[in-house]
Amino acid sequence: MIRETIITTVSAENDVHIAPMGVAIEGDVHVIAPFRPSTTLDNLRANPVAVVNYTDDVRVFAGCLTGRRDWPTRPATRVAGVVLEQSLAHAELEVARVEEDEVRPRFHCVAVHAETHAPFRGFNRAQAAVVEAAILVSRLHMLPLEKIKREIAYLEIAVGKTAGPAEAEAWGWLMERIVEFERQATEGKRA
Ligand SMILES: Cc1cc2nc3c(=O)[nH]c(=O)nc-3n(C[C@H](O)[C@H](O)[C@H](O)COP(=O)(O)O)c2cc1C
Repeated sequence: MIRETIITTVSAENDVHIAPMGVAIEGDVHVIAPFRPSTTLDNLRANPVAVVNYTDDVRVFAGCLTGRRDWPTRPATRVAGVVLEQSLAHAELEVARVEEDEVRPRFHCVAVHAETHAPFRGFNRAQAAVVEAAILVSRLHMLPLEKIKREIAYLEIAVGKTAGPAEAEAWGWLMERIVEFERQATEGKRA
């Protein structure tokens, strides 16, 4: 089972980093698997703790992928990390073991503390669509643009029918990013 979460980590220089990551839950163990190279990977090596933030504010997912990484945080309770203010719940993790890999090392973490801050308010299709679109945006350089645009056209139906203001804003940021990517690709071809 993989949950789509916001992982907060801290560098050796104490800089906070916020990134959307899938976390595989295997019993009590949380596995974080950042691709090389990434700041999350560097931070987990320098400071082997993380906070897994569960949020329904999809602007954080879309924002991190579109250059809007400055989300409010507060100090964690047990580990030397930070909690995302928008989290409905969070768990504080310590890295127990690293499974090295050329492409994607796997950090096996144990939860040493967990807190709930706000209730779960039910599923929203637009939130799911924004998370899917954010994944597509994170793969703009890897997937054919036509495939991405086809999937976006389908996801847009749920956004049109069920989004609130936060989901609509997040969707807008992702669509701007795709338009910009396409413009640059077209210009690149002409040059
Ligand atoms: C829902 C979602 C899940 C993601 N899961 C992962 C992941 O498990 N590993 C990863 O390396 N990147 C993942 N990404 C992409 C990263 O968030 C993005 O590339 C990010 O910039 C990571 O690099 P960084 O630590 O240097 O910021 C995910 C993106 C989204 C939207």
